[in-house]
Order: sequence, then structure tokens, then C-alpha cells
Amino acid sequence: MQTDFLVIGSGIAGLTYALKVAQACPNKKVIVVTKTQSDETNTKYAQGGVAGVMDFNKDSFDKHIADTLIAGDGLCNKAVVEIVVKEGVDRINEIIEWGAQFDKETDGDFKLGKEGGHSEFRILHHKDVTGKEMERALLDAVAKQKNIDLHTHYFVVDIITQHHLGYLITKAATDVECYGVYALNLSTNKIEKIISSVTLLATGGNGQVYRSTTNPAIATGDGVAMVYRAKGRIENMEFIQFHPTALYEPGVRGQSFLITEAVRGDGGILRNHNGEAFMERYDERKDLAPRDIVARAIDNEMKIAGTENVFLDCRHFGKEKFVEHFPNIYEKCLSIGIDITKHLIPVAPAAHYSCGGIKTDEYGKTSIKKLYAAGECASTGLHGANRLASNSLLEAMVFAHRAFKDAVNLSKDEVFNTLKNADNLIPDWKDEGTTSPKEMILITQSVKELKLLMSDYVGIVRNNERLRRAMNRLDLLFTETEELYKKTIVSPQLCELRNMITVAYLIVKSAQFRHESRGLHYTTDYLQHSSILQNTIL
Ligand code: FAD
Ligand code: SIN
Repeated sequence: MQTDFLVIGSGIAGLTYALKVAQACPNKKVIVVTKTQSDETNTKYAQGGVAGVMDFNKDSFDKHIADTLIAGDGLCNKAVVEIVVKEGVDRINEIIEWGAQFDKETDGDFKLGKEGGHSEFRILHHKDVTGKEMERALLDAVAKQKNIDLHTHYFVVDIITQHHLGYLITKAATDVECYGVYALNLSTNKIEKIISSVTLLATGGNGQVYRSTTNPAIATGDGVAMVYRAKGRIENMEFIQFHPTALYEPGVRGQSFLITEAVRGDGGILRNHNGEAFMERYDERKDLAPRDIVARAIDNEMKIAGTENVFLDCRHFGKEKFVEHFPNIYEKCLSIGIDITKHLIPVAPAAHYSCGGIKTDEYGKTSIKKLYAAGECASTGLHGANRLASNSLLEAMVFAHRAFKDAVNLSKDEVFNTLKNADNLIPDWKDEGTTSPKEMILITQSVKELKLLMSDYVGIVRNNERLRRAMNRLDLLFTETEELYKKTIVSPQLCELRNMITVAYLIVKSAQFRHESRGLHYTTDYLQHSSILQNTIL
């Protein structure tokens, strides 16, 4: 395939960008590829909503900016925070024009929710299924756009650069260019070249490197791993956000069901096994302190009591009030025998969001030419050391828009002519000498080991010894997996394992570099902040 604009990922970042370039350039072709179904994304599972200053009587840009900076614990790029907060309002209005519906009061004003770290009510939501509604609206709009081709079940294996033309590329290179991607077409099991003038990576998060995560199975950090292999810049990977309140269901593997922070915003109270509302002992903002603080407090309470969960108390809400805002959570809890009007909800922290990722500038440009990144896979400078709740959907829309603006200007250069002969220049994928895997179980066992070691040694509370152990174990997994990769026909499972090992390595390496506790990176070996503010760039 050959295209003007290539988009990897069909979540909020990928689809917003695709719609914008397609509408602005009706004569150009846009291809979107996604590795499973079109809506199977982190976006679909977003619950709480999207933060935005909509009520200027009570709220202001300054307050939203201040809350974001406080949560980010000194590492946010202030210029980027201002951009996202201020431009975010236009992006919210745009997705509303594309058909997304947010809950409203009877007088027509938006119903605004509150989450940890926010000083005001400013979260627009669609009940407790906001992401599903936004994803629906975007997919509907994409389906109407004639110059967008959306290909599902295409697994992108690597981005194509000069490396594939036979040139040696080192980390010091500043002229690496992206010509498109190699992607495994899962309906034919063949790797195809997709050659593109401009490519956007919108591959989402990496929660699957942990045993317990709110992220769906697709969140394996593929984009970050691809860029790292292509010698692009990655930053701040140590800042993995653990959501304080994933539903605790013993024995359930894979994705944990989220109990949105908006439940605490509406008055939900965390209690330990003695029934004590413990958050007041940790922070004056109690249950609505930023996520890093709440997750660490829960971790501490669980360690003291020797338990695997704490509880969220919503018994005082009354059924009507709870169901009005959180019908999905109500049904889910009921389905496992928890009536929230009578019972406490068992909850525990789970890996939720990657604050770091592919380093971009303020137009979503990566360190690789003609390659943009937006959404959770990108590190734009907004989140710093800890993301403020509900700033992620907002950031994805703002940076999809900024990348679109820049990419469309790029298209005016001769870049669109350089690829005329690319099909001849860029070699087909080579898989001579590889065979089908003898035992897929070797891959699944390694995935299990990886998740276990990351949860045991690189969780909410870290130290040097734990990180060293994690690195030693990763080293072995890396060697074994690379050997397997060289002799095996590629499959999504093997590629994801390889990508997750790379991402885990980047998380541990970045954590080892940071000799301080800051935001989401908390280490008992360096409890204080360092006086030097710096990102960890790999
Ligand atoms: P995603 O929506 O995850 O999309 C990634 C896409 O990339 C998918 O289509 C996937 O198939 C594709 N992809 C990945 N790798 C490949 C590959 N190798 N080849 C082809 N395709 C690939 N944020 C908020 O702001 N507010 C919230 O209320 C909120 N709630 C959340 C609740 C949950 C349970 C979760 C998990 C996250 C929540 N977040 C929330 C975070 C937010 O949802 C995500 O950060 C955001 O949706 C990410 O969007 P994205 O477009 O970057 O990626
Ligand atoms: C939630 O609804 O609690 C998640 C919000 C977010 O991750 O921003």
C-alpha cells in the first residue's frame, strides 16, 4: 500500500488526526491501521471523562493550569500545559460537533464532575462510559469520510527508516527518516509494506507490562518500542501511573475493571480493613489528593494489614444518585454480588497510564523525520511526573490537531514526491530461514514472567535492589526472546512480547537514572526531591 498520510492506531488520537487531515486534504489518501477491532482501544474504556474549563464563572484556565502543574510535581513543560488547557476547549467543542454527547443539567449546562487533584468541577462525561461515547462518535465520523481507509487486524511490526535501505544508524543520528511501516496483515499472515509520506503513531499505552492493569490487551507499548528500535528519543518512562481504585476480583486475569475516580469526586470514601477512612492521615485533600499520593497510601495500608485490597464506600449515595452517574459500575458490581448500596467495593491499585513515551515537540513531531506521535504513546511535556486525572483525552485531541496542522504544511514540501520510487527502493520483509514457533507456550510463559517481575520489583514503591533484580531478569528474557525472534515467523504474540520487554527495559532504566522520589517515581533509596529538574531521555 502507498498513502499520503498513515495513522497507526484507532483511538482518540489516531482518529482525531485522521479526520482532520482527511477533511483538510480531500484529494489525499489517509490510511488508518489498527491491530484488532477498530474500537478496541484504551479510549473505549475511559470512564471519568475529559477535563476542560467550560464554566468561566467558577473555573478558569489559570486554575486548570495550576492543578496540572501541581500534579506534575515540577516536571511539566509549562508552555505545553498552557497550550493544552487553552486549546482543549476548542477540541472539546469539535468532538461535540462530530456527534459526541456529554451529560447535561436540565438547564442545558454541562454536568461537570471532579477527580483527584482538580480544584474545580470541570470533567465532562457521558455517564461512566465517556470513552466509549467519544470513540463511537469518532468512528461514525471516520466512516463518513471517503478518503479514509480504516484497516483492522493489521499489526505494525516496525517503522521503515534508512536502516531498511542498508544504512547504519546510530543513536547519535539526527537525520533518521520514516518511510512508512511493515505490518502483518492478520487475514493473510503476510507482512506488507505500507509506504507513506507522513506517519502518525497513536498506539496508546503499555499497562500490559504489569500483572494488574486497567488497560485492555492491546496496550503493549508497541509504538514506543518501535521508535526506540529506530533510534528515536523516548523520555520519562519511569512515570507509570497506578490508578488507585481498580475493582479487586481475586483470580481475574488480564484487564481489571476500573472504578472511576469520579466516584470519589461525588463523595466515595476509601476505607481500610478496619473500616477507617484512612486518607485523612496522608493528605489534607483526603480521597481527592492526586493519584500518586492516593495509590501510595493504599499500597501502605495494604502492606500494614497484609491484604490485597482496601474498600471504597458508596453506601451513603443511595441507588438513584449512584445509578444516575455510574450505571455501568453499578451493573458490574451487581454482576459479582456487590450491591453498592449495602456493600463496600473491594479495590486495589492497578497500572493505568504511561506519562512518558515518544518525545515530541509542541507539534507532535518526534526526533524521526516525517514521524509524529500523539496520545498516550507520546511524551509532550504535559504530564511531567504525574498526570492530572482526565487530562489524557484532552491532550490526545490537542496534539492530534497540532500534528495535523504541521503534517499538512509538510505535505506542501517536495516530501510527497520523494516516495514515488520508494516501492522499488524499500525491500520486502525478509523472513527466509524462519519457521513457525514450535511452542507458543514459550511466549505466553515469558509474558507471565515479565508481568510478574514488573509488578514485584517496579511497582508503586521502588528501590535500587528491586530495580537491579528487575534488570537482571529482563536481560535473560531479552536474550531468549531475541533468539526466538530471529528464527521464528513473526506473530502478534511474539512481537508484543518483544515490545513489552523493550518497554519494561525503558521503564527500569529510566527509574535507575532518577536518584530522587518525584511524582509517580517513589524510591525508598532517595526519598527527597533532587534540586535539579530533568527528564530521563533514552
Ligand atoms: P488508544 O485509545 O489506546 O488507541 C491505541 C490504538 O493503537 C489502538 O487502536 C490499537 O489497536 C493501536 N495499536 C497499538 N499497537 C499497534 C500495532 N502494533 N499495530 C497496529 N495498531 C496498533 N483518560 C482521560 O483523560 N479520562 C478518563 O476518564 C480516562 N479513563 C480511563 C479509563 C481506563 C480504564 C483506561 C485504561 C484509561 C483511561 N484514560 C482516561 C486514559 C485514556 O483513555 C487513554 O490515555 C487514551 O484513550 C489513549 O488514547 P490513544 O488514542 O493514545 O490510544
Ligand atoms: C477515571 O475515570 O478515574 C480515570 C480518569 C483518568 O485516567 O484520567
